[in-house]
Amino acid sequence: MLKKTLLLTFVLLAALGVGIFFSYTHIEGNLFNNRNAQWGILASVVVGLILGVARGLLKKKNEIKGELVTRHGLGSLISHWATAFGIFAAIYSGVMLGFFVMSGKSVWILPVFAKTQGAVTSALNAHYFAVLMILFGAFFFCADYVATRDWTLLIPNLQDVIQGFIGKYFLRRKWEKEEKYLSSQKSAAMPYFAIGLVILLSGAVKVAAHVWPITANVWGWATVIHDVFMVFIILYTLVHVGIVVVLGDWPAFRSWWTGTMSKNFVEHHHPVWFENLTTRTNKS
Ligand code: HEM
Ligand code: HEM
Repeated sequence: MLKKTLLLTFVLLAALGVGIFFSYTHIEGNLFNNRNAQWGILASVVVGLILGVARGLLKKKNEIKGELVTRHGLGSLISHWATAFGIFAAIYSGVMLGFFVMSGKSVWILPVFAKTQGAVTSALNAHYFAVLMILFGAFFFCADYVATRDWTLLIPNLQDVIQGFIGKYFLRRKWEKEEKYLSSQKSAAMPYFAIGLVILLSGAVKVAAHVWPITANVWGWATVIHDVFMVFIILYTLVHVGIVVVLGDWPAFRSWWTGTMSKNFVEHHHPVWFENLTTRTNKS
């Protein structure tokens, strides 16, 4: 699995790298304005959806195999890392383009790095490739989630938030009902999805502005929202990675590469999931 994961990571990074390289060396016009490239945006959504549904229907369920428990297949790795790498590239190109910019001038601490028309076009095209990867990863994830029909996998209930997140970490109360994803992970995933959704919708309006005429007012609001949520996603990603480091959640981190967790760890830290695995009522 580790070999497959490394190969997949290489393919994702190479695809992004080639796109960004060509943005700076070969492509001249703004791809967001190019009709074929606009179809490319739709294609990445459709390919993500189709592969996600196929994966959700065909994937093997997690199971105990000797001393290990299977946790992530290649599909989970695609959705997590394609989205994450795409977001990193979008943040890079977004910073180059500048955010919170009015009449060509940055109205906050970060300057606009892309100063010439050529630099702006290159950064916009790098953003285009980042967007392709984000849309592919995000729609793959959503379609896989829906096709799997394990609704509560990442969607928390009130108990998860109050007892499993606030109670366990802030009030130091005991909480034993940990499933495949800890109650705290489920609680933390929700704001991430919400931030991602707002970026996606505001980005969609900005893409639409390149396809159809849109009023300056709508475009202006989409830009403000897109830029504000860029700050949120940067901060939230720092928190997301920070939590892994501060809580030392290395077994989860390792599972992103190896696809597995030790049986012993699952038994003690994810007791409800472990029970589902042993009674074979596990859905995903
Ligand atoms: C984490 C993800 C993203 C970040 C951090 C980000 C950030 C930015 C920033 C800073 C800009 C330049 C300032 C502005 O015009 O607002 C920009 C422009 C843009 N973004 Fe994003 N963005 C992200 C994802 C997306 C997505 C998913 C889409 C499409 C669905 C998208 C579509 C666009 C478009 C069309 C532009 C304007 C291009 C132009 O001015 O012609 N972005 N983005
Ligand atoms: C912008 C990029 C990223 C996004 C949108 C993202 C999103 C997510 C989501 C939604 C989950 C599932 C539930 C949760 O734990 O919250 C998750 C899990 C996780 N992510 Fe990320 N992530 C990103 C980047 C990263 C990075 C850079 C790391 C590296 C440390 C990382 C490490 C993990 C780990 C260790 C898990 C738990 C996996 C498990 O429990 O098996 N993520 N991520």
